[in-house]
Parts: sequence; structure tokens; C-alpha cells
Amino acid sequence: MERLDKILVSQGVGSRNDVKRLIRKKSVTVDGQAVTKPEYKIDPESCEIKVNGQAVDFKKYVYIMMNKPSGVVSATDDNTAETVVDLVPSELFRKGLFPAGRLDKDTEGLILITNDGDFAHKILSPKNHIYKRYYAELNGELGANAVERFEKGIKFSDGTKCLPAKLEIADKHSAYVEICEGKYHQVKKMFAVLGLKVKYLKRLKIGGLSLDGNLHIGECRELTDLEKKSIFIGK
Ligand code: URA
Repeated sequence: MERLDKILVSQGVGSRNDVKRLIRKKSVTVDGQAVTKPEYKIDPESCEIKVNGQAVDFKKYVYIMMNKPSGVVSATDDNTAETVVDLVPSELFRKGLFPAGRLDKDTEGLILITNDGDFAHKILSPKNHIYKRYYAELNGELGANAVERFEKGIKFSDGTKCLPAKLEIADKHSAYVEICEGKYHQVKKMFAVLGLKVKYLKRLKIGGLSLDGNLHIGECRELTDLEKKSIFIGK
């Protein structure tokens, strides 16, 4: 059982003050009865809540895919820059949303945003070895042995060894990379070991889940149940 005002805030109906106002104005009904006390406790999974006659489709957790733009930080809040959570439209917004994983500020592409900590943990846990696929544009040409060096595991100058990664050369100055860990600036640092700078980086896939090609930069949408499962298939 949870307070009605807290439930409405968690479902993105409005701020605490907005929903209190709505409740006091008798705009909120629970199973057909107007409720006027914000602190009134209900079970949101079994009651029908309506706001101004519109049913609230209660979902404890949301799972969002976003096509992250460059210049946006993958964090919940930031003092100066816009965050991926700031870009979530109000109909999908929930309290407690956070990005499940990080992309650099200048990296574009697939990022998942959720309020489900267990789900995020499953994606991020190194022991699950979920592959992430990137497209990278480089400032120079890849050498003949680049694929083999990625396959063997790149070693950073500080001695850190990366797990084996797949490299597919797209053309002279671009490639696809698949890694199954998430070290800080990993892709950029791996190419740096080969003497190359990443000029553009985009994440295309997490496990078996591809970025929806219809999502313009900065747009997002909810994952389907099948897509959610696909993350853990064919990883
Ligand atoms: N590797 C990087 O270097 N940057 C990213 O944003 C993701 C992976």
C-alpha cells in the first residue's frame, strides 16, 4: 500500500504540489470514487486510478531506449550540461530514472534509461559479458594486425588488459567494435593503443538489442518486452 500522491508523482502525473492540488480539487478517482486526501493509501497494482477521467496506466518500472546526442551527459543530473534524463519526455518520465550504463559526452547512440536497479545491474555486471557494438570513425588507417590485436586483448599503457574484442573494418577510416566490458573511455583508449584517435563514436547495440533506426538523435521510446529480453540473448 502506498500514498496516492506518491504514486501519482512516480507515474509522471506531476510534481508533489501538482498532484496534491489535483487530489484536493477532486480530479482523482480510485475505483470510481473521488479521493481528497493525498496521504490516502492504496495498492496501485489492483486499483483503477483516474485523473480528470483518464486512467493512469500504472507501471512500477519503465525501460527506455534513447538515441543519445553528442553533448549530453549520461547521468541523472549535472550542474552545467543537459543529461539524458532531462531529454525523457513527460509521458515516460518517472521519479528515479537513471541511465543503465555510460556513454562519453561526445558519444552518440543507444543508451538505456530505467528506474529498475536490478535490470540495470544485470546489464552492467561484467560477469554477464553483454557485448556492446560501436561504430567508430578514426583519424587514420587501421593496420593489418588490428583485428588480431583486438582479438588477443588490448593492453593499456598502465598495464590494464582488456578482454578479447571483435573488430570489423568498415573502410579505411572506420570500423565496428564489440566489447563486453565497460572500462572508462574503453573504445577510445583501445584505438589509442594502435596510435589512432576516435573522431566519432556511436553505440549501435547492447547484447541482442539494436538501436531503433527510426529514432532521431535525442529521441526515445519504451522497450517492448521482447526487446528487453533480447538484451540477454545472443550476447
Ligand atoms: N568507449 C568509449 O571510449 N566511449 C564511450 O562512450 C563508450 C565506450
